[in-house]
Amino acid sequence: MRVSDCHNIDDFRRLAKQRLPWPVFDYIDGAADDEITKRRNTDAYADCDLVPDVLAGVADIDTSVTVMGCKSALPLILSPTALQRVFHWQGERAVAKAAEKFGLWFGISSLATVSIEEIGTMVSTPKMFQFYYHKDRGLNRSMVERCKAAKFDALALTVDTIVSGKRERCARSGFTSPPRFTVSSALSYACKPRWALDYLFREKFALPNLDTHVREGTGEAVSIASYFNSMLDVGMDWKMAEQLRQDWGGAFCLKGIMSAADARRAVEIGADAIMISNHGGRQLDGSRAPFDQLPEIVDAVGGEIEIICDGGVRRGTHVLKALSAGASCASGGRLYLYALAAAGQPGVERAIALLKDEIERGMRLLGVSSADQLNSNRLRRRNCC
Ligand code: FNR
Ligand code: LAC
Repeated sequence: MRVSDCHNIDDFRRLAKQRLPWPVFDYIDGAADDEITKRRNTDAYADCDLVPDVLAGVADIDTSVTVMGCKSALPLILSPTALQRVFHWQGERAVAKAAEKFGLWFGISSLATVSIEEIGTMVSTPKMFQFYYHKDRGLNRSMVERCKAAKFDALALTVDTIVSGKRERCARSGFTSPPRFTVSSALSYACKPRWALDYLFREKFALPNLDTHVREGTGEAVSIASYFNSMLDVGMDWKMAEQLRQDWGGAFCLKGIMSAADARRAVEIGADAIMISNHGGRQLDGSRAPFDQLPEIVDAVGGEIEIICDGGVRRGTHVLKALSAGASCASGGRLYLYALAAAGQPGVERAIALLKDEIERGMRLLGVSSADQLNSNRLRRRNCC
């Protein structure tokens, strides 16, 4: 299978599975417990139908939206994801460049394998830093200051990882950051020579936004679960989130909000946006899908805060459904990660181009010429009124 044989995100998932050692593929593809929520995140979009208008004059369409004060050419954000140079040697650099080419927001994780400073100088398009609230207060201060100096456009505090989800695929494979070659997985790494040679002989693995303060994750291999449970502050609360927003002083997003009550509190502490998300099903399995939860959130705080619907997006029509249900835009991780893992920057660019084409085609077939014409009149949920 080649990149040119990939005509949708699922094709890229298959190509990534072919090209990656199974522990690395399972880290991307896997989720918590029985992975019910991961599946539901995408299935939720299938349980809802679109109602098009026709003869609407859609020769010229505008797919752009403005999120947290920055224009995005598509209503789609590339969500922050960790360890990208483990998936492909180009890592965050490839995703940043692809995001810039298509004029999209791009987020780097606290556990990114490329530094805040490099990303800050590398691309001119909107950049988000995803903040993990560590026990090490010096590290927290360092990340905020480095993002200010690098002129990041937004800080996204992840709030749904107070403890790690139960990642059974990683427990089975022994996946760690950085990857450790265990007996059970050594063969799988050896059977993927292209990946192994890149990993072993290109730039050494590092977590440059963390290893100034902590050894875990770079200096010593740890599972993501161990990292979360030992390094992040389990006592994180609303007061600390509000203080972080004040310390940062720029556009501030809470990533992982799911209840209407929490969405209300996000407004009260002055957040600019909420990313309704269950972390791609990697945390609380059995959590509701963000798309299913969207109407409740929109009823509670619509118009008072920007609402990003994160997770499960694999098609342009998913993005259009999220906006019709009241989201300011959609976001996703695996929608570009499979492509990154499969083929680096060309892969990510192709994946985004496929989604862009689907968004444009969907808008025209729906009879809308701009994103703000998408509303709940376009949707019919099958399992209710
Ligand atoms: C993630 N996600 C994530 N989120 C976050 O706040 N910090 C992080 O470091 C990561 N890392 C990460 C790694 C991998 C491999 C995946 C798949 C996901 C969650 C991510 O930002 C986003 O919420 C989900 O990926 C959305 O679900 P989909 O789009 O992957 O279905
Ligand atoms: C994950 C963490 C790094 O989901 O957010 O793997």
